[in-house]
Order: sequence, then structure tokens, then C-alpha cells
Amino acid sequence: MSVVSINPDVMGESRRVCIAGTGSYAPERVMTNADFEKIVDTSDEWIVTRTGIRERHMARDDETTSDMAAEAARRALAAAGIGPEEVQMIVVATITPDMPFPNTGCLVQDKIGARGAFCFDVEAACSGFVYALELGRQYVSSGALDTVLVIGAEKMSSMTDWTDRSTCVLFGDGAGAAVLRPCRRGRGLMTSVMGSDGSLAELLMVPGGGSRNPTSHETVDKGLHYLKMEGREVFKYAVNNMTAAAREALEKSGLSLEDVACVIPHQANVRIIQAIAQRLHAPIEKFFINVDRYGNTSGASVGIAMDEAVRGGRVKAGDVVMLLVFGGGFTWGCSLLEWGKRS
Ligand code: ACO
Repeated sequence: MSVVSINPDVMGESRRVCIAGTGSYAPERVMTNADFEKIVDTSDEWIVTRTGIRERHMARDDETTSDMAAEAARRALAAAGIGPEEVQMIVVATITPDMPFPNTGCLVQDKIGARGAFCFDVEAACSGFVYALELGRQYVSSGALDTVLVIGAEKMSSMTDWTDRSTCVLFGDGAGAAVLRPCRRGRGLMTSVMGSDGSLAELLMVPGGGSRNPTSHETVDKGLHYLKMEGREVFKYAVNNMTAAAREALEKSGLSLEDVACVIPHQANVRIIQAIAQRLHAPIEKFFINVDRYGNTSGASVGIAMDEAVRGGRVKAGDVVMLLVFGGGFTWGCSLLEWGKRS
């Protein structure tokens, strides 16, 4: 297991980095718990009490991860008042790319007309958005780049086993995006704590379709292209690691939870969020929750939640915000930032 803290003050970076604009997109089609009652042996009551999820958005068959990412990106650029030609780098966090290659970032580049950008994907499952944000921050804080587009986008419905009630009710599709620029005032992105534990990879994975089990009739017959999860184990590690990361990020930044106006956690299960709040001795009202309407959108989750929190007035200029994530790998992370549109 490895945990790394990234603190701009310690690194002596020359430039602060802020989020100049956010955007998100969710497909029009909504699947309710009642819809799942018709396809697997489940109930609205089980899903709501065990997960807090009531509905989730599902992409059309012809709607891809890059389509959703591009729409979230357009909205983030509009919020930042920046044209696509100004974007210098696009990084997309996803575990459901349109295809193994070319990368989703390149497809987004073409869709939004960001011809001057170099583009790639990162894969850190549900932690992807925070990992991509940290990566983008490094390019801007070093002075190498001025404008970076960070996107988390997923078509989780493309890897869902619709006959497995223990996973199919959990996930949804969508995309969230943020534009990173140098800060003129304020602190912007502050401390990040990132951790991984590859020894626990088997607890949450898609076993097929890669170099270990290349796609074949046999892998498809065995359903190896679907997401597999040991839910109870994942739950336990999610609570422990997210709580520890939050504590460490606060300690490293010299802040307490009272200084944080809003915690935006990965939206997998409301019980995970409640357990973290309890362990941190924080009121649940401090946590932004939209898992009831989106389900788990993996790498898109925190990007969508952050955009909703900002547009809904839940996060205001000057607020300290905590992003807190956990996902397959295992991967996890916590980022503290001061909100403010100050580029
Ligand atoms: N409807 C009805 N019953 C169900 C359903 C369902 N949809 N799913 C499972 N059950 C049953 C099980 O079969 C089991 O029955 P049994 O006791 O007769 O065997 C019972 O409910 C309890 O199952 P558990 O798996 O123990 O239920 P739990 O309370 O742990 O909830 C859940 C399951 C929601 C998956 C939870 O464990 C969880 O949220 N885990 C974490 C998921 C997560 O955080 N993922 C993050 C990252 S995802 C990524 O990186 C892509």
C-alpha cells in the first residue's frame, strides 16, 4: 500500500491553480428502482435502504463516453468563459472509454474543436476525477500550461451485468468537467493525498477484455467483460481509506473539518458517506449527496457532484471544499481546495 501527500507549499510551486469553471452532463433517460424490479429480483426498499439510490441516468445505445464528456466539457468551458482553442491539455478519467484506443481525450478534442490541445486518459476507477485534477494541477502550477480541461466520464451501463442484482442497480452514466487555470487571488487547489493498494485489485475489477483475458467467445460466455465486486469488502476499505485520507489532508494543510464548508465525496453509497461523516465527527449536512439521483457514475461522480454543488449555490467563493474518492485498484484520494472563480 502506498500513500503520497502533495502539498504545494512544501514543493515551493510558483503558481496557484484554480477551477475556473465546471460543467456536467447526464443522459436524458432515467431508470428508477421500479424499473429494476422488472428485470431482477430486487425492490425499491432494498436499494434505497442499502444504497440510498433512487434513480440513475442511462446513456442511449448510440451515446458514447466521449459524447457525454464533450457535452460536460462545453458546459465547463462556457462557465469559465474560455473557448476550446485555448485548451492546451485534455485529460479524461474513465474506465469505460469508447474503445481501447484512441484515447477518449482525443475523441473529445475533435468533438469540441480543441485543436491546440494534447490529450490522454487516466484510469483510476472511481478515484479518476481527483487523480486527473491533480495531474492537471501539476502542469498549470509548474507554469508549463495555462489551461487544462479535466473530465470524468463513464458509460457504466456498458459494463453492467443486467442479470446480477448485486451490481446492476448501483451504477449510472454521465460526465463532469473542470477547467484549470492559474489563480490570481486565493488559494485554489491546496493539499492532495493520494493512495493505492494493488494487492486488493481482485475485489473490484472487470477481469476480461485486457491482456490477461483477451476477448474471446469463452470470456464473453463467462461474463468476464462485466464489472465484478465484493461489495462488503469494498465498503469496508472505502470507509477506512477515505476517512484516513481526509484526516491526513486536513493535517497536512493545517486545517480542521470546521474550516471545510463542503465535502464532496465519491457517490457510491449513502451508507459509506454516513459512516465517514460519523468517523470524522462531522454533521452529514456538510457532505454533498446526489447518489440518490445518479447512482455510482465512477470516474464522473465527483465531477458531476462538484458542478451541481457550485451551480446550486452549495459552494461559494472563498469556501474550502474537500473532494474525497475511492475506487477500484484500490485507489483513493482527498483534495482540499478553496473555491473561487479568479482566473
Ligand atoms: N436486491 C435485493 N437483494 C440484494 C441485492 C438487490 N439489488 N443485491 C444483493 N442483495 C442481497 C444479497 O444477495 C445478500 O443476500 P443473502 O444475505 O441472502 O446472501 C444480501 O442482499 C446482502 O448482500 P450484501 O452484498 O452483503 O449487501 P450490502 O449491505 O453489503 O450492500 C452494496 C451491497 C450496496 C454493494 C455495498 O456493499 C456497497 O455499497 N459496497 C461498496 C461499493 C463501492 O463503494 N464501490 C466503490 C467503487 S466502484 C468502482 O470503483 C467502479
